[in-house]
Amino acid sequence: MNEIHALTAKKSAALSGITKVPGDKSISHRALMFGALTIGETIISGLLEGEDVLHTAEAMKALGAKVEKCPDGLWRTYGVGIGGLKQPETALEMGNSGTSTRLLIGLVAGHNISATFTGDASLSKRPMQRVITPLEMMGANFESREGGRLPLTVIGADDALNIEYRLPVASAQVKSAILLAGLNAAGRTTVIEEKPTRDHTENMLMHFGVEVVTEELEDGALAVSVIGHQELQPCAVDVPGDPSSAAFPAVAAAITEGSSIQLSGIGMNPRRTGIFDCLREMGADITFKHERIEGGEKVADVFIKGTGKLKGITVPEARVPSMIDEFPVFAMAASCAEGTTIMTGLEELRVKESDRLLMVANGLKACGVNLEMGEDSLTIHGTGKAPKGGALIETALDHRIAMAFLVLGGVTDEAIQIDDAAPIRTSFPNFVDLMNDLGCAIMKV
Ligand code: S3P
Repeated sequence: MNEIHALTAKKSAALSGITKVPGDKSISHRALMFGALTIGETIISGLLEGEDVLHTAEAMKALGAKVEKCPDGLWRTYGVGIGGLKQPETALEMGNSGTSTRLLIGLVAGHNISATFTGDASLSKRPMQRVITPLEMMGANFESREGGRLPLTVIGADDALNIEYRLPVASAQVKSAILLAGLNAAGRTTVIEEKPTRDHTENMLMHFGVEVVTEELEDGALAVSVIGHQELQPCAVDVPGDPSSAAFPAVAAAITEGSSIQLSGIGMNPRRTGIFDCLREMGADITFKHERIEGGEKVADVFIKGTGKLKGITVPEARVPSMIDEFPVFAMAASCAEGTTIMTGLEELRVKESDRLLMVANGLKACGVNLEMGEDSLTIHGTGKAPKGGALIETALDHRIAMAFLVLGGVTDEAIQIDDAAPIRTSFPNFVDLMNDLGCAIMKV
C-alpha cells in the first residue's frame, strides 16, 4: 500500500544538467506482453520500472510466462507462445494502469481462458465498454460492473473471430486490444482509425517478426491489419526514454529563464511528439540532436533552453492524439505564456486517470490563472508572467496532475503543494530526485 505524502515545489533558479528519463511506459508494457507471447527468451533493456509496468509483469507471470529482472539490470521473459496463455489462478490486479488493463483484456479475449481484472479507485471508474464492444464481436464474453467498469471478468473466445472495426474514439489502447485478440484469431483482423494514435503495437509486433499492414483508405483513415496465428520471434528490445516523462523537465526548463538542459535518448515517434511541436510554436528553444533508430523506434537527444518568453498558441485539433498525455503539463506552460492558448478536441482527457480537464482547470484557477473550460476545450489567458501559485492541488490518483503542478511550482512566487505524491510512482519513480538534480526545489511538506 502506498503511503500518502504531500510535496511542495518552491521557486527555483535556472535549471541545468544532462539527464535521462525512465523508459517509455507504452513500449515497456508491450515489450513484456509480446515477450510473453514468444517461445524463447526476450531481453529488454531500459524497461520502465514504474508501478504500472510492474503490474503488467505480474500479470504476464500469472498468465504463464516467466518474467524476471536479472542482476545485469536487464529484464528477460520466457514466453508461452500465441494461444498458450494459461488460466490465472487469482484476479489480475492492475493498480492504476489503464494500458495494462485494456491491452490484457484484448489478449485474454482471444484465448480460451478467463480472467478477472481489478484496479484502484481511479481505474475502477474508467470506461472499458470501448474494448468490450469489439471484443464481444470477436466471440469473448464479459461480466462487469455497470457501464463496463472494473472489476471485470473476460471469458475468452473458444475460437476468436476476426473483425473489421472502425474506432469510435481515437484510442491506441482500444486499437491494440483488438489487434492483440486478433493475434489468436483465424484470418485478418483490421482496425480503422480516423485519427492516427500511437503505433507502438504495430511497430513492436513487426519487431517481433509479425506482419502488420497499415493502409490509408480513401477517406484518409488508416486501416491496420494483422493476420492471426503468426508466431512472434523472441528478440531484444531497447526501450527509449519516455517523451511523456521528458515533457515535465522540458516544460520546467522552457518556463524558467536561463535554463539549459539535455534529455538523452528520448523516443521521437512522431505520434508522440506533439508537445515539442507546440512548445516550439510558443517560442521555446528546443533542438533534437543525434537522431537514431533504437529498437525499431526513432530516438534523439533533446536540448531545451529557457527563454522565459513563451507566447499563446492555438493547438491544432489533429495534433491532440500525439500529445494526449501531455496536456496537463502543456497547460502549465500556457499559464506562463503571454496571450491566449486555445485547446479543443480534449474529450478524452475526461476519462484518463482523473478527469484531467477538470483537475487542470481547478488547479490553475486556484493558482490565479484566468481560463475557460468547456466540455472538451480549455482556453488559458496567460499574462507572460508566472501565475501567483500558492495553492494546494488535489491529485486524484493521477500522476500527471501531480507532476504538472510540481513543475509550475518552480516558477510561481508562492509555492505549490500537491496532496499526494504516491501516483508519481506509476510512471516516473525517480521524478523528484531527477528534477531536483536539475535544480528544482521539490520537497516533502
Ligand atoms: C496508451 C494510449 C493512450 C495514452 C496512455 C497510453 C497506450 O490512451 O493516454 O497513457 O500505451 O496505448 P488511450 O488509448 O486511452 O488514448
